[in-house]
Amino acid sequence: MKVTTTIRELQAELAAARAAGKTIGLVPTMGALHAGHASLVRRSVAENDVTVVSIFLNPTQFNDARDLERYPRTLDADCAILEDCGAQIAFAPSVAEIYPEPDTRHFSYPPTDVVMEGARRPGHFNGVCQIVSKLFAWVEPDHAYFGEKDFQQIAVIRRMVADLGFKLQIVPCPVVREADGLAMSSRNTLLAPAERAIAPRIYETLVASRYFAQSHSVAQTIQYVVNRINAIQGLCVEYYSIVDGESLLDVRSWDEAPSIVGCITVYCGQKPIRLIDHIRYK
Ligand code: PAJ
Repeated sequence: MKVTTTIRELQAELAAARAAGKTIGLVPTMGALHAGHASLVRRSVAENDVTVVSIFLNPTQFNDARDLERYPRTLDADCAILEDCGAQIAFAPSVAEIYPEPDTRHFSYPPTDVVMEGARRPGHFNGVCQIVSKLFAWVEPDHAYFGEKDFQQIAVIRRMVADLGFKLQIVPCPVVREADGLAMSSRNTLLAPAERAIAPRIYETLVASRYFAQSHSVAQTIQYVVNRINAIQGLCVEYYSIVDGESLLDVRSWDEAPSIVGCITVYCGQKPIRLIDHIRYK
């Protein structure tokens, strides 16, 4: 695997591939890679001639300086994982390489970027669009791989792709979970053992809510999830919304949209660590 740190180097590698008519897959990441990221990379490797994985802890999407500060940084281990997955190119640039000037662009894709995460993390999706649009422009991938772990992020990026006319296909990939159901996340390593022990209750409750939903309304299902999770000491629901899977707008009934998804954010423990997850009702 070739590890590149500059746009020039990256594009030199890609020019040869493109000239040879090869297809290119892109997997954007912020590093601290785990099996969830690896599943995206393996999928890209299987579906493209060349796979580029970016490893860039993008400062513009962090609206909380402490969150950025304590985010794990594990570049050597990340490269070992990517080698193992069969990626051809890693792109691990500095902040100055990506943002030689402050990025003053504003992306606005309501309602996807102003509800739930968008409402609670001002500027977050703007930062995501800033970095992802740059990567799309530099790499010009045929396919770009994103995890459904960040369900709302995919909805925002789909809107950006349509808006800016990128000629690429977004490939959504299923959430990879620990054996006990907890969605894999780079932030899980920050959980103390007692916190790690209760965190799986989030997904367990979401799964149980699928059965509950069969005989209850949307509003009752929201209450069920919130009450059950808040009853567990150490967990506190920030929001639970049941939404149209495309627009991310709240639904009031189960027949209001073809795709209906429950999106949750829970504070876990003392620090606290913010965990997100979701479940598909239909
Ligand atoms: P990051 O959190 O590093 O995630 C990179 C990609 O891996 C995202 O598409 C994310 O949804 C996916 N991913 C993370 N955990 C996963 C899991 N357990 N199962 C499946 N996929 C998982 O998301 C970002 O970085 C950034 O916002 C980024 C898009 C790179 C822009 O900076």
